[in-house]
Amino acid sequence: MGAMRDGEYGISDAFINLEGIRHVYKGGTVALDGVDLRVGTGLFGLLGPNGAGKSTLMKILCTLLAPTEGRASVGGFDVLSSRPEVRRLIGYLPQEFGAWRLHRVAEVLDTLASLSGMRDKLRRRERVEEVLQQVGLAEVADRKVKKLSGGMLRRLGVAQALVHDPRFLIVDEPTVGLDPEERLHFRAVMAELARERTIVLSTHIVADLGSGCEDLALIDRGKVVYRGAPSDLVNQARSRVVEFSVKPTEEVALLDRIEVVSRSADAGLIHIRGVVREGAAPSGATQVDDPTLEEAYLAFMAGRGRSGFGVGEEVA
Ligand SMILES: Nc1ncnc2c1ncn2[C@@H]1O[C@H](COP(=O)(O)OP(=O)(O)OP(=O)(O)O)[C@@H](O)[C@H]1O
Ligand SMILES: [Mg+2]
Repeated sequence: MGAMRDGEYGISDAFINLEGIRHVYKGGTVALDGVDLRVGTGLFGLLGPNGAGKSTLMKILCTLLAPTEGRASVGGFDVLSSRPEVRRLIGYLPQEFGAWRLHRVAEVLDTLASLSGMRDKLRRRERVEEVLQQVGLAEVADRKVKKLSGGMLRRLGVAQALVHDPRFLIVDEPTVGLDPEERLHFRAVMAELARERTIVLSTHIVADLGSGCEDLALIDRGKVVYRGAPSDLVNQARSRVVEFSVKPTEEVALLDRIEVVSRSADAGLIHIRGVVREGAAPSGATQVDDPTLEEAYLAFMAGRGRSGFGVGEEVA
């Protein structure tokens, strides 16, 4: 088997394709407003503020929601006319995964694997063990779901999305509620899986895309407003991410111009790192050499006149 061989799939089957996708909910909310996207193998990040349309897009890909307009396909199969095929190809971690509380961990996986079309009982048992190892839940295979910690529950969510070994993974805000160590673990699992799969991952915690993500889309109010490499987004933002120090009395006047990313105080001065929303940088400010992806995201959205929507690290 050659190194370039793409599993048992042809190259053209590795794509998710969206053309002119529009979705209007009952009541008239336009959640998606003409989305075109083509996504291939690897980890694809879907970023956007609350209500941007991320979950709606993911539900359409998973055949849970029919788009009002446009066409979507997964691995060459249309989400409307080939639902069973798409469901077999796709693993989905919904934003609100948490059902099955009275069942045991391994049982849940076995049942869901069976629903995803894995008929062979023995093969299923092997696969459940494998996937529990992979997400680090092997020790709690016999525990009831309601006794899992929040982080373990998220990992069970990942395990159920993976159990039938899907070619495509759709994971919606998978790191919400995880502690820093669990997030690191999660990032490593995704990077590993992305080597031979197409993963679409939506998140508010921009850092959780990690270095394994080479392609992303930013959506805002139902439209794709940026598509490209994280490094390009960072380069675009470079001039607007700054550091400076001010006296405490001067700080307030700056807050409508600066999106503060971090702030510390010492020796009577406030040190601020942040994104210039509009106008010139405060006097004495220096450009940051190494803006993070999160800062680049803030800078991009600020340039669209959007700010204060609480992206980045979760704050308790
Ligand atoms: N079932 C529904 N009925 C009516 N409106 C909905 C429904 N689900 C979502 N919406 C609306 O559609 C828009 C997009 O919602 P969606 O959940 O796709 O956004 P999101 O990007 O996933 O947001 P979040 O980051 O908060 O998860 C929002 O305005 C939301 O209020
Ligand atoms: Mg959502």
